[in-house]
Amino acid sequence: MIVAGNWKMFPGPDPAVLARRVAGIAGVDAIVCPPYVSLARCVEAGLTTFAQNVHWENEGAYTGEISPSMLLGLGVAGSLVGHSERRQYFGETDEGVARRAQAALEAGLGVIACVGETQEQRDSGDMEVVLRIQVDAIRDACGAHERLVLAYEPVWAIGTGRTATPEMAQEAHAFVKSLLDRPVLYGGSVKAENADELMSQPDVDGALVGGASLDVESFASICQAAAHSHS
Ligand code: PGA
Repeated sequence: MIVAGNWKMFPGPDPAVLARRVAGIAGVDAIVCPPYVSLARCVEAGLTTFAQNVHWENEGAYTGEISPSMLLGLGVAGSLVGHSERRQYFGETDEGVARRAQAALEAGLGVIACVGETQEQRDSGDMEVVLRIQVDAIRDACGAHERLVLAYEPVWAIGTGRTATPEMAQEAHAFVKSLLDRPVLYGGSVKAENADELMSQPDVDGALVGGASLDVESFASICQAAAHSHS
C-alpha cells in the first residue's frame, strides 16, 4: 500500500516531525509531495519525496519548469504528473502528461500519474470514455512500467469533502486496471475517517491525500489505515 501526501501550494508540516511519526508504520510506503522549495528538506529528513510535476526535457528554455535530472540530483524519488489542478488551471494535455511521465520513468524516477472525471462528465455518462482517453495516453507512452503508479482522482471529490463511495472507487479502479495493470491510488477528500473503508476495496492500492496530509496526525492515521488493509 502507498499513501502519498500532496501538499499542493501549502508549506506543509515540519518534515523532521513527519518523518519521525511515519517511520514506525510498517507495511505502507509513505510519500510526500511538497512544493519544490521544500523538496531538499524532505529528502534530508529521510522522507520518500516526490515532486508535484516534472518536465520531459533535462534542461532548456522552459521557464517555471523543473527537470527529471534536477529532481534526481536532489535525491527526489519521483513525481506526480497530470494532477487535475495542472490539467484544469494550467492547460496540461493528455499528450503532455504522458511525455512527462515517460521522461521521468526513463530518467529513473517513480511516477504517480493522475486521472479522473469531472462531475459533468460523470453525470453525462462519460466517465469511462474520459478515463480511457487519459489512461491510454499514459499507457501508450509508458506501458505497464514497474515504477508507474496511477491515481484515480474524481475531480468532483478533490478538496470538496465529497468522497467517492468505496463502491464508486472500486468500480473506477477496476476499470482503470483493465486498461493498464498497475497499482491505483484513490484521491479526493481522503481523511482519517474514510481511509479504512476506501482502502479495504480490493482494487484500491493506497491513497493520494491532499488537505488531510497537511496535518501530521491525520496523515499518520491514513498511513495506519493503509497498513491494516488488504495488501
Ligand atoms: P484532497 O486532494 O485530499 O484535498 O481532496 C487530493 C488531491 O488533489 O490529490
